[in-house]
Amino acid sequence: MSASKLIRPSAEYQDDYLEALAEYHAEGRYLYQDIGRLTLDFDEFIKELKTEKGYPHQPYQDWVEPVPETIVWLVKDKKYIGTVDIRHRLNWHLEKWGGHVHFNIRPSMRGLGYGMKILKKSIPIINYIGIDKALITIKPDDMAGIRIVEACGAEFEDETVATDCFPAMRRYWLDCT
Ligand SMILES: CC(C)(COP(=O)(O)OP(=O)(O)OC[C@H]1O[C@@H](n2cnc3c(N)ncnc32)[C@H](O)[C@@H]1OP(=O)(O)O)[C@@H](O)C(=O)NCCC(=O)NCCS
Repeated sequence: MSASKLIRPSAEYQDDYLEALAEYHAEGRYLYQDIGRLTLDFDEFIKELKTEKGYPHQPYQDWVEPVPETIVWLVKDKKYIGTVDIRHRLNWHLEKWGGHVHFNIRPSMRGLGYGMKILKKSIPIINYIGIDKALITIKPDDMAGIRIVEACGAEFEDETVATDCFPAMRRYWLDCT
């Protein structure tokens, strides 16, 4: 058994990633990643992820410029466990709701300590990208997410007010130096 580690996305994990993607879809995440298309050309998907071009922000895709985004995966024993999206800078949308860093553990692997690991292991990478203080936003009812960012030493800034389009978010700054 090996230790979990962060890697750049790799086609080696195709089958496991697609299983995880079905789990994410069931809870409404990563719906813009189409399982059919990815199954047909996973290599192309990996290539796209590595271009670091970022994603259009729903529902304001015509109003918010995508920012470059580095994606890393947490893996262990040839299994995909989770994803960290690191945005290289903020735009108005990320500043209020999305933050610099978003991390997900696949639903079937939650509650096993990987959420804490994925953020702790990401800190040197976030800093390597040039971010000293990373904004991380968490939904107020996400007790595991709050526990993780607070245990990593992030400082609470404020809580945004819910709008028609976005839920309220607790905003934290994580020192990555
Ligand atoms: C948030 C998320 C990453 C947590 O992943 P996870 O692997 O289940 O987290 P862990 O097992 O490492 O648990 C993290 C901590 O939260 C605690 N925790 C878990 N569920 C909890 C709950 N309902 N109430 C309070 N604490 C809770 C755990 O005990 C652990 O604390 P500890 O190390 O002091 O024991 C995962 O639920 C997820 O991917 N959610 C969707 C995306 C998201 O919300 N991301 C965070 C915002 S960017």
